[in-house]
Amino acid sequence: MRVLLLGSGGREHALAWKMAQSSILEELFIAPGNAGTKMHGKNVDMSVNDFKAIKKFVIENTVDTVVVGPEDPLVNGIADFFQADDELKTVSVIGPNKEAAQLEGSKDYAKQFMKRHNIPTAKYATFTKETLSDGYKFLESMNPPYVLKADGLAAGKGVLILDNLKEAKSELKNMLADAKFGEASSRVVIEQFLDGVELSCFIITDGDAYKILPEAKDYKRIGEGDAGLNTGGMGAVSPVPFANPTFLDKIKNQIIIPTHKGLKADGIEYNGFIFFGIINVKNEPYVIEYNCRLGDPETEVIIPRLKSDLLDLFEGIATKTLSERDVQFDERSASAVMMVSGGYPEKYAKGKQIFGLNAVTDSIVFHAGTVSDGPAVMTSGGRVLAATSYGKDLATSLKKSYESLDKIEFENSYFRSDIGYDVL
Ligand code: AMP
Ligand code: GLY
Repeated sequence: MRVLLLGSGGREHALAWKMAQSSILEELFIAPGNAGTKMHGKNVDMSVNDFKAIKKFVIENTVDTVVVGPEDPLVNGIADFFQADDELKTVSVIGPNKEAAQLEGSKDYAKQFMKRHNIPTAKYATFTKETLSDGYKFLESMNPPYVLKADGLAAGKGVLILDNLKEAKSELKNMLADAKFGEASSRVVIEQFLDGVELSCFIITDGDAYKILPEAKDYKRIGEGDAGLNTGGMGAVSPVPFANPTFLDKIKNQIIIPTHKGLKADGIEYNGFIFFGIINVKNEPYVIEYNCRLGDPETEVIIPRLKSDLLDLFEGIATKTLSERDVQFDERSASAVMMVSGGYPEKYAKGKQIFGLNAVTDSIVFHAGTVSDGPAVMTSGGRVLAATSYGKDLATSLKKSYESLDKIEFENSYFRSDIGYDVL
């Protein structure tokens, strides 16, 4: 296969690392990629949202498969763009079309979908600028904390959880009337607060068949003990100890199957990954959100646990024969600990040289925000890299990830030293 992978984070490095191991890979391009993806293919300086440039590149390089890492191009309709173009329609895009990607691109769309198909989720209502006063009344009828969600994509910042009614009303107004998140908050979903522990579940589907991938737990807050600001994710573990077979069965029967059937019933063609953000409330699973892609840093633990050939699964999607493909997982545990630039998720410096990468022997280092400068590797983002390790159990795997991070350094680096603490 001749593959173009879109994206530049740790997720994409993990996908590139895995695809490079496939016997059916002919050539791998990554756009724009990072200093890590370069070890597994050719980086191409091209934006994931520049469909015209992508078209030109795909034709000139006879790419047959485009794998989409992040949500943006999917929500912007890259699959539809390929489908509608005579020169591109035989190229398979791994990722849903624009309509299906609304499961992530619009919180209101996702909530309506879940309501229609009886999928457990928090109670909610949706408001616009015109119905702001109804929004206030709705808030008054609820108990704190108040959960306000910008309907559209807001780079992971569109969810506010507020303890006090006055503040919640004022933020609702900021979002709706003052466009706090731009167009993304022209509609706001207000929902019931669910108290529980979160986990991430994933399937891969060709629209007909689906395969369940290993679950993972992501650590979103910057500070130890899950304190401080939200980040893209500071680490992940898989499997998740509290996700015992009974709980995973509930997720399958109450969430995965109804979602899969619901898409069919609604006539929505879905191919690619579905990421279910789940919360465990007293041993009952609820959907917090859908994403139309893999998670980051979850991918850095899930993909290493996938024993099967990922390109074989992608071929299964392209030819709608996923049901015939074999999906096997490594029984070992995997953990990923993110090393970030000091200051992240607020202001941080870039362009710091990273030392010690070659000294790591017991982990896979997945690059996220890195660029090459000659032979040197420099930081170029908030989340810089992740050390992923296997272990017979989570404790063993985490010990290795931490030992590896101790060998890596750059100015003002930071990582959480308590990833996995709550599930060990
Ligand atoms: P989302 O973008 O919808 O995943 O929301 C971001 C984060 O906000 C989630 O990962 C949860 O930690 C939190 N969150 C979202 N919705 C709720 C809810 N209904 N109850 C409690 N926490 C929530
Ligand atoms: N780690 C959460 C996400 O990728 O959205």
